[in-house]
Amino acid sequence: MKQPIEPFELWREIVHLMTRYGLLLCSVGSDGKPNVMAIGWMTGGIVWDKPILCVFVRPSRYTYSRLEEVGEFTVNVLPPEFKDAIELCGTVSGKDADKFERTGLKPVPAQKVSVPIIEQGIIHYECTVVHKNDILCQFLSEEIARYAYPSGNFHRVYFGKVVASYALKDAVKALI
Ligand SMILES: Cc1cc2nc3c(=O)[nH]c(=O)nc-3n(C[C@H](O)[C@H](O)[C@H](O)COP(=O)(O)O)c2cc1C
Repeated sequence: MKQPIEPFELWREIVHLMTRYGLLLCSVGSDGKPNVMAIGWMTGGIVWDKPILCVFVRPSRYTYSRLEEVGEFTVNVLPPEFKDAIELCGTVSGKDADKFERTGLKPVPAQKVSVPIIEQGIIHYECTVVHKNDILCQFLSEEIARYAYPSGNFHRVYFGKVVASYALKDAVKALI
């Protein structure tokens, strides 16, 4: 049974899984069709006295167009046995394929947003976008520009207010 969690109480475990396998970001377009992509970069903390997650999405992603249409997303943490599914979600675009069908990942209704969560997840965040901003080349260190943006395609950063967070706590603790 998934239980409510404080937004950052499992952060150590999330960073562990994110840096090894990636997490899954779900979005939905104005057509109501959900999509899922892998993310490897995310920050979180308290801003404006609210729990905020920042996700970094390049304009070339199908997810970007979805987030521009519907300002909500879910972040889903999956256990390591889903590493191949995560890899597929990070290499195939929703423009070209239905990644839920391809992977067997199951979108199910979230509690507070219109974007689904992924049933097989062990930690979930539901977020509404309260701000967005682009990475600006002129303010970026040369080292990071060279490392992350050799051909441009600068991320847009979506600041999501966490409106629900829950987890299968025992499954998470058993992993790490
Ligand atoms: C482990 C992993 C982490 C990734 N992290 C990000 C990320 O944080 N931001 C991003 O824009 N793309 C990231 N990508 C690439 C996207 O997931 C990939 O381009 C995906 O196919 C986009 O899907 P979409 O076109 O359906 O949105 C990552 C890929 C992998 C495999």
